Amino acid sequence: KVYSEEDLYRPNFHFTPKKGWMNDPNGMFYYNGYYHLFYQYYPDSNVWGPMHWGHAISTDLITWTEKPIALYPDEKGYIFSGSAVVDVKNTSGFGSLKNPPMVAMFTYHDMKKEKAGETNYQSQGIAYSLNEGLTWTKYEANPIIENPNIKDFRDPKMTWDAIHQQWIMVLAAGDKTMFYRSKNLKEWELLSDFGKDIGAHGGVWECPDFFPILVEGSDDYKWVMLLSINPGGPNGGSATQYFVGDFDGKTFTLDKTFSQDLKEQEALYIDYGRDNYAGVTWANISEVDGRKLFIGWMSNWQYAEKVPTEKWRSSMTIPRELSLVKENGRYRIAFQPVRELNNYISKTIKKETLKIDKETIITDQSLVDLSKVEIRFTLKGLKKDVYTFSFSNKSKNTLRFGINTKDKYFFIDRKNSGDLSFSDVFANTVSKAPFTEDFATMEVKVIVDKTSIEVFYNNGKTVMTEIFFPEKPMETFTVSKANFNFSVENLIINQLNF
Ligand code: FRU
Repeated sequence: KVYSEEDLYRPNFHFTPKKGWMNDPNGMFYYNGYYHLFYQYYPDSNVWGPMHWGHAISTDLITWTEKPIALYPDEKGYIFSGSAVVDVKNTSGFGSLKNPPMVAMFTYHDMKKEKAGETNYQSQGIAYSLNEGLTWTKYEANPIIENPNIKDFRDPKMTWDAIHQQWIMVLAAGDKTMFYRSKNLKEWELLSDFGKDIGAHGGVWECPDFFPILVEGSDDYKWVMLLSINPGGPNGGSATQYFVGDFDGKTFTLDKTFSQDLKEQEALYIDYGRDNYAGVTWANISEVDGRKLFIGWMSNWQYAEKVPTEKWRSSMTIPRELSLVKENGRYRIAFQPVRELNNYISKTIKKETLKIDKETIITDQSLVDLSKVEIRFTLKGLKKDVYTFSFSNKSKNTLRFGINTKDKYFFIDRKNSGDLSFSDVFANTVSKAPFTEDFATMEVKVIVDKTSIEVFYNNGKTVMTEIFFPEKPMETFTVSKANFNFSVENLIINQLNF
């Protein structure tokens, strides 16, 4: 069989634009039964170019409908990343209490100024929508935040801070982030900055997010910052780190135990795979259903423009529910794929206990379509050893993942996963996520959708997301033998129906 690009590479249930180039998710909010997703978009090519905001909507975060382009570049510049909020109280005056406006803030990137060698080419502008995000009007007084002579000054993320009853906004400013507050979403007061000499600084800081969240199982809350960095990620290129601390309405201060964590490891990452970048959370959701929801761009600037799709480039991660857990005195972000994915299960294979004393095929294509599947299991009886799972096909493509309890890391290895010809660095090393514990058991959840794998280890406290390009669909799912026998328990394989 000769496979078309669509057959082989277009994800079944991860968002991709029908055509053109996509990068960061932008301006997500929830309103009136719809989840809105905007994204950095260039409709006229499959590489990065004059940035627009594309738009898609969904009632369940899984099935998306593309809408008309929301924001076009103009004489003030390209429309870079940013955020949007539902201005429920009409603080901006752009709408009414009856028809609250959606207000977006984005970065204007002025190419003319950049080419002329000026450094002040990024500023912030706003736009509003009075029809639930379908069409947008740019504010006539843009830019509302001028460039203070900082070269990288972008990606504003606004949040309603219910604790201090104010709008807050954080943006990336060179090697730090800057905090602002506002009463009306138009005038912004600079409050403080955060991040110089804290965390990883191997590249530019981009796309911050900042929000309070309850510590799971308690009434205490902490403030979390997500912060993307490119390059300088733990496995090369783009990645997103996080910080946990307190916010008094003006200043973000790192939590003491979290500072301690940062002494032991330079940074903590929300995902140690190479393909989850620039992710942020939905606005106006926790108010509605109590969840904090996240989506990321499932690619990496190292090779995003070269991956072997022509018609469109790149997809988003599966939307994830974000929680903050405290374990042994330490704060960790944990992710789970959104529960709405369960509504798409069309077939389930269950196995109680598999004793592994030799290489074992767990399942194959005659039983389940491995290009749209969610797999869960518990590993038991772990010693100091290497536990490897693999998806493979008759074209000798193999995608491996697993846990090395000797050298203490989780891994994804895409070195033999298919087409690697487009980039020297795509599969130059095995990607690793370090840990410090001695695990005897391990919970694992895996989502595979043709060209992507998302592995949630240890109840989502370590996540690895990577893309790959097999020459034909994967046909078998295998676990290989370790030095000591072990077992795979509570195995559930869910085929998803799309
Ligand atoms: C992150 C990023 C942002 C910027 C956008 C431009 O991937 O570089 O900082 O706003 O992409 O498309």
